[in-house]
Amino acid sequence: MSSASVGPSEHEIAVLPEPRGPVTEDLFHALTGRPGDFTCAQVVEGDALVDDDLHLALYVCYELHYRGFSGVDDRWEWHPALMRLRGRLEERFEAALRERFGGSEALDKPDVVATLTGIANQSGPPLSRYLRDDAGLAEMRDYVIQRSAYQLKEADPHAWGIPRMTGKAKTALLEIEFDEFGSGRAERIHAVLYRNTMDALGLDGRYGAYLDLIPGPILATVNIMSMFGLHRRLRGALAGHLAVAEMTSALANKQVAEGMRRLGLGRQATGFFDEHVIADSVHDMIALHDLVGAVLEQDPSLAAEVLFGASAWTGLDGMSAEYLLNRWAEGDPSLRTPGRAAGTSSVG
Ligand SMILES: [Fe+2]
Ligand SMILES: [Fe+2]
Repeated sequence: MSSASVGPSEHEIAVLPEPRGPVTEDLFHALTGRPGDFTCAQVVEGDALVDDDLHLALYVCYELHYRGFSGVDDRWEWHPALMRLRGRLEERFEAALRERFGGSEALDKPDVVATLTGIANQSGPPLSRYLRDDAGLAEMRDYVIQRSAYQLKEADPHAWGIPRMTGKAKTALLEIEFDEFGSGRAERIHAVLYRNTMDALGLDGRYGAYLDLIPGPILATVNIMSMFGLHRRLRGALAGHLAVAEMTSALANKQVAEGMRRLGLGRQATGFFDEHVIADSVHDMIALHDLVGAVLEQDPSLAAEVLFGASAWTGLDGMSAEYLLNRWAEGDPSLRTPGRAAGTSSVG
């Protein structure tokens, strides 16, 4: 097992990826210049839940709030032209989420905790079971690369939610985040554990190294968290999403760790997943009862938003799992081919 230190690559900044359509063409062209006004491509109708061009554009807009990109002026982060584009992309994405996942029966039920438990217990596509029982090493590496889009910034999107919570809700969110960020030990930050997994599989663990290969359906699962975190009006959705994510994480990660052991991978690879079996069997209760419980005690009118966040996250995560399983069933890699512009742009 290699040392679990925080190496220099942890602090490296990614370069802008290749554009995937007219929106990212225009956006990336602007970002390589001085901050200023720019016009961006309008509308081609694509599925705003998965569209490659839309989700890469949104991912890059959000990334300016995390670490930015090498060669991109940091002043772009809050530039009004950038905010305008981000707003249009978010509008399309959120409308599609509400249309697809916002009208479920669950949203009418008064017992939010019971409903969240029901959402968490829904059986989605059997991705982690497949990884446990059937996946080959190539598929496992595919999966680890796909998840790197989020896992290398794990828990960062939820940190935006901290100042938006008060009292017991803030304490509960902080309790979870403290663990995610290593409980005072930089080498135990979950994103760092994930980099150890990537190292063990011979992958490039630098932040953003695989962005060009990661398709829209996976980027969407990261964008939903950034969107929930960055909008105070969506704080209920952030809490609901976090609750179901924590409630479903321990079992899924256990199955992935078992799959890795079946493939002969050792503790450096499985450490991230093993850690989540332990951590998330505590986080789930904190998120469900302490965080969501306090959010609703403080503002009962957020109940529908809590359930929307949970349903939207579960639905989108299920779509991404289905995407991977379908690609593998066809014998295809799930990753994009670099340089290939796929999908349609869809800024409304
Ligand atoms: Fe974690
Ligand atoms: Fe967790």
